[in-house]
Amino acid sequence: LARWADLFLVAAASADTRARVAQGIANELLTSCWRGAAGEKAVAPAMNQQMWADAATQANLATLKSRGIAVFGPGSGVQACGDVGAGRLLEAEQLADLCADQFESGLLSGAHVVITAGPTREALDPVRYLSNHSSGKMGFALAEACVEAGARVTLIAGPVHLPTPARVQRVDVVSALDMLAASEAAVAVAKAGSSQPVFIATAAVADYRPAQVAAQKIKKGLKDDTLDITLVKNPDIVASIAEQADKPFVMGFAAETHAVEAYACDKLARKKLDLIACNDVSRADIGFQSDDNAMTVFWPDTQANEGVARVELAKASKAQIARELVRLLAARLTY
Ligand code: C5P
Repeated sequence: LARWADLFLVAAASADTRARVAQGIANELLTSCWRGAAGEKAVAPAMNQQMWADAATQANLATLKSRGIAVFGPGSGVQACGDVGAGRLLEAEQLADLCADQFESGLLSGAHVVITAGPTREALDPVRYLSNHSSGKMGFALAEACVEAGARVTLIAGPVHLPTPARVQRVDVVSALDMLAASEAAVAVAKAGSSQPVFIATAAVADYRPAQVAAQKIKKGLKDDTLDITLVKNPDIVASIAEQADKPFVMGFAAETHAVEAYACDKLARKKLDLIACNDVSRADIGFQSDDNAMTVFWPDTQANEGVARVELAKASKAQIARELVRLLAARLTY
C-alpha cells in the first residue's frame, strides 16, 4: 500500500491525523502507510474554524510544511456545525489540480520533445508479423513527465495498449519504416517551432524486417518442414536523427542482459547520443512489461572518468524514473 503512489494525499485530514503524522505516530494503517511512503506527501485539512485557529493545529501544520509536506487549503465558508470560517475541505476538482501541480516543474518549458515508444511490427504477410514484448510503458511515462515539466510532446507509438496521456500529441505507427518517417516529420516540426528540440528513443524497434512482404497469406507447404525468411536490417531511427546537421538533443535507451555499462557506452558514442538510459533486462522485477524500472544513465563528460559521467536510478515506478530522467535531461540542456 505504501510503495506505489507518486503522491500520498490525506483528504480530509483531521486535526488529529495531522497531529499524529507530525509526531511520527504509526500505530494504525493510515499513519503506517504515510511513514512508509517514499513519494510526495500532502494533506487537505478539514475541521471547525476554531480548531483550525488553535495554536496546536497551527504548530503541527508548521512542522509538516517544514518537512516539505504540501498543505492543500483549507477553504473558507459555512461549516457542517453551522460556524462560518476557515477549515472547509477543498472541492475534489481543486484537490486534483493541486495534486497535478506538485509535478509541474517547468524544467522543460519551451522544449518540444519527440518520443518513440513501444514495439514495431514487421509484416510477413497480410496476417502475420515479427515483433517483441515491449509494452511502451516507459515511453508513455516519459511523455507524461515531459508534459508535467512544461514541454510540448509528440509521442510516436508502435502498437501498444495504453491510453494517450493528457496534452500529448500521439502519432500511431506500425513498422520501423513508419516510425522513422513519423520521427523525421515530428523532429522537423520541433526544430522549426521550438528553441529546444529533443528526441527520445524508447521504442524497441525491430532490428530486421522481412525482405519481402507476401501479398497473400503464406501457405504451409505439405512437404516443407522448414520455411526460410530473408530479413533485411531496419534503419536505426535514433542514430539517423542524431546524424542530422542541426540535430536535436538526443536521448537513447538500452536494454541489456549483460555487460550493461560497456554496451551502453558503446551505443552512446556510436549512435552519437547526448544521454543514454540503460536497464538490465535479465532482472525479472524491472524493465519489459513491468511497472517498475531501475536504470543507469550515462552521458559524455570530458571531466569524468573515461569521458563518461553516470548516475544510478534505484528501482522505482516508471513514472518516478521518468521524472528523474526529465531532471537529468533538463540539466544537460542547460549546461
Ligand atoms: O541498438 P539497440 O537497439 O540496443 O539500441 C537501443 C536504442 O536505439 C533505443 O534508444 C532504441 O529506441 C533505438 N533504436 C532505434 N532504431 C532502431 C534500433 C534501436 O531508434 N532500429
